[in-house]
Amino acid sequence: MKPSVILYKTLPDDLLQRLQDHFTVTQVKNLRPDTVEQHADAFAQAVGLLGSSEKVDTALLEKMPALRATSTVSVGYDNFDVDALNARKILLMHTPTALTETVADTLMTLVLSTARRVVDVAERVKAGEWTKSIGPDWFGVDVHHKTLGIVGMGRIGMALAQRAHFGFNMPILYNARRHHEEAETRFNARYCDMDTLLQEADFVCLILPLTDETRHLFGAEQFKKMKSSAIFINAGRGPVVDEPALIAALKNGDIHAAGLDVFEKEPLPVDSPLLSLPNVVALPHIGSATHETRYNMAATAVDNLIDALNGKVEKNCVNPQVA
Ligand code: DGY
Repeated sequence: MKPSVILYKTLPDDLLQRLQDHFTVTQVKNLRPDTVEQHADAFAQAVGLLGSSEKVDTALLEKMPALRATSTVSVGYDNFDVDALNARKILLMHTPTALTETVADTLMTLVLSTARRVVDVAERVKAGEWTKSIGPDWFGVDVHHKTLGIVGMGRIGMALAQRAHFGFNMPILYNARRHHEEAETRFNARYCDMDTLLQEADFVCLILPLTDETRHLFGAEQFKKMKSSAIFINAGRGPVVDEPALIAALKNGDIHAAGLDVFEKEPLPVDSPLLSLPNVVALPHIGSATHETRYNMAATAVDNLIDALNGKVEKNCVNPQVA
């Protein structure tokens, strides 16, 4: 008999088939208590779990005593209680490489669309306001040759630096836990402390995972240190930023604009003050959301689960030490 797994995400047919070739798959719509209750036997027997965007915490793990591996269709794994997984020797697999270039494209989109006010002016065209040659109240600011500050120089930070350096001639500053020699050699990036980055960058791009260390790393103090002409971009995780402090900074002119793909609460509540600010571009967490990349991420997650349950943890494993 094939081992049992729980799938809490819709997969393309060929990937579902690949999963079913290896496992008996129970598909559920989410991991909420009522769903777990409804499929109690399947959860109790499952050795694997695959999906994304749902909390995997102690309460859930208690309902899954046979679980040996989880596979998330994402690079971020802040939905998982990693300590609880480690304590139970459950492997956690993720997709760190499949989405790098696509998320870097999203970041560059946010840089360009905030600086050139793409959404704002396009809406004005649609509203019939383009009735004569445009004047300065429609102008944006340049991106090329401006200084880009990258907070978090991982794979995505590197892909953003590559675009900015070669495509836009932007000097690059970065702050990270350690120096990144390759970024310095290939993109002439300059490591600096956070205060220097905040004071000198024209664009401050956050690409950080959510951890105890990064939660609310950016608040009123950080926004006040930025240039009043600076544009703030976040495509990592929403709770890295104190959102009311960001809203205040945008309203009182501490910073010029913000391009956001992530928020403290997602989906972003429709009454969020961010949505009524003309200097904000708000996207619905589309960082990796292209057909190609989401397919590749799902394929990686399926392979990851097969590998993990066969004891192969050389790549894409967050906690190989528990194998
Ligand atoms: C991730 O993979 O963590 C992204 O946020 C999903 O788009």
